Amino acid sequence: MIDKAKIINDIQNATTTQELENIKVAILGKNGILTSALKDLSKLSPEEKKTTGAALNNIKEEILTTLENKKSTLELAEINAKLLNDKIDITLNKQENHKGYIHPLTKVKEELIQIFASMGFKMASGPDIEDDFHNFTALNTPEGHPARSMQDTFFLPNGNLLRSQTSTVQIREMERVGAPVKIITMGRVYRSDWDATHTPMFHQIEGLYIDKGITMAHLKGCLIDFLKAFFETDDIPTQFRPHFFPFTEPSAEMDIRCTFANGELKIGSNGTRWLEILGCGMVHPNVLKSVGINPEVYQGFAFGTGIERIAMLKYGIPDARKFYETDTRWLSHYGFVSDDFPSIATGLSRK
Ligand code: DAH
Repeated sequence: MIDKAKIINDIQNATTTQELENIKVAILGKNGILTSALKDLSKLSPEEKKTTGAALNNIKEEILTTLENKKSTLELAEINAKLLNDKIDITLNKQENHKGYIHPLTKVKEELIQIFASMGFKMASGPDIEDDFHNFTALNTPEGHPARSMQDTFFLPNGNLLRSQTSTVQIREMERVGAPVKIITMGRVYRSDWDATHTPMFHQIEGLYIDKGITMAHLKGCLIDFLKAFFETDDIPTQFRPHFFPFTEPSAEMDIRCTFANGELKIGSNGTRWLEILGCGMVHPNVLKSVGINPEVYQGFAFGTGIERIAMLKYGIPDARKFYETDTRWLSHYGFVSDDFPSIATGLSRK
């Protein structure tokens, strides 16, 4: 006798199409139990043939339908499993998204360009490797002059040197365009120095303004305006303290009134001390003569200072050596977001 319920159950419990195929063969194959039962019908009487035949055909129908349904379900599952197995991972590992920062030196240089451009200064430049004439002699510092030892200069074997000051560009620019001239220059300078506030290479900004009738009053007005713009405050008392530079006469150092509290610079009239911020003076007649400009006709002023120094003061950066260590942690702390371009109109720095 055929146990239909068991067969249907076996079909439902099959887990692979192969297992299903085996069941099908065992029942409906050439020697399958249902095939044999159908063959055996011939042995029955016409009356039994009729009823048993109809019953067997119904069972066969039901088994076939169940087999078909189960087959589609298993095939689908097998295809899905295969797809999952054969899947090729075409994705790349996500790149870590490093945020870039503007280096404080770059930021301060951009600020200085904005300020001096607004006053009509043009940008000029000169080489890092200089000759003695442009670094010293033309700047009224002839051989044997004691001021040559004010800066620990690196000399090259051929007698040239790494410029120790951007004042060289004053000479180059006056040689190039004569007078009048109104320029700033920014660039690297080199001195044999190494501590928390000195590095053997650092950057200076230099300004030069030569025209007819330029006086110390112009110098003072220009530099006071510069410091107000740079430190973004009008409360910035300044003093010009007499000093010596070979290339200016008179010469001065400019100081600002301030207080240092918890490593932070507070500028303002209630400050407790004077802090030197730059060197300046009226260009020495000998300097003008060395580039063929008549000092009886043209006069002017010059100034210069370290860019790291004013960057450290403005942004509270304690150690000059860190500027060149390419330490991204330092940069993410002291750097600036890349789309924050300084302008006089929108403010130089954002807090
Ligand atoms: N060259 C000077 C230095 O490196 C800075 C300086 C002082 C530049 C006075 C000037 C100036 O143009 O007039 O220490």
